[in-house]
Amino acid sequence: MNEYILLLLQSLWLILPAYVANPVPVVAGGKAPIDFGKKFSDGRPILGPGKTWRGSAAGITAGTLVACIQILIGEHYGLSSHGFVEMSVTLGLLLSTGAIVGDLVESFFKRRIGFKRGQNLFLADQLDFLIGALLFASLEITISIPVLIVLFVLTPVIHRLTNIFAYKRGLKSVPW
Ligand code: CTP
Ligand code: MG
Repeated sequence: MNEYILLLLQSLWLILPAYVANPVPVVAGGKAPIDFGKKFSDGRPILGPGKTWRGSAAGITAGTLVACIQILIGEHYGLSSHGFVEMSVTLGLLLSTGAIVGDLVESFFKRRIGFKRGQNLFLADQLDFLIGALLFASLEITISIPVLIVLFVLTPVIHRLTNIFAYKRGLKSVPW
């Protein structure tokens, strides 16, 4: 197989739980906000109403379930001998939780600079969950530079395309 295609597949394989965890809250979001509707010392919401307990829990659960399926697929096809990361429940949990937390941290900073819920902060909306997922995952595994490059280039593109799709389907009120 072409080495670049292999690298692309290895990168997507690693990040898949985070790619699943990130959009699930859009369809599974609940009412109760993580910040309990409380304001920060600047008088603005801590995170805002777009970050809910149910959405976050659903995202983490879905991402970890995908990792469980990856464990079975990886074992069945012996993928780790082809340079694919060996998925584990711990890694799936780290990637999914990191993705959700990365998005929460971004919302925290968006509120601090006065951005309202759903207001687009260029590239931050695309990369927040990726950075969170990679930081959390690095507690468990070492991620190669080529994989990092692929993910940082590819993620904004995929993210943008899926959000335009979600917007057109009426799942999101804004196309980002
Ligand atoms: N969502 C959720 N819990 C999360 C993240 C998202 O319930 N942890 C749901 C909310 O219904 C949210 C929707 O998914 O409105 C879209 O998520 P996102 O685009 O990240 O939130 P925004 O509404 O754009 O809010 P923010 O400006 O804080 O990013
Ligand atoms: Mg957002």
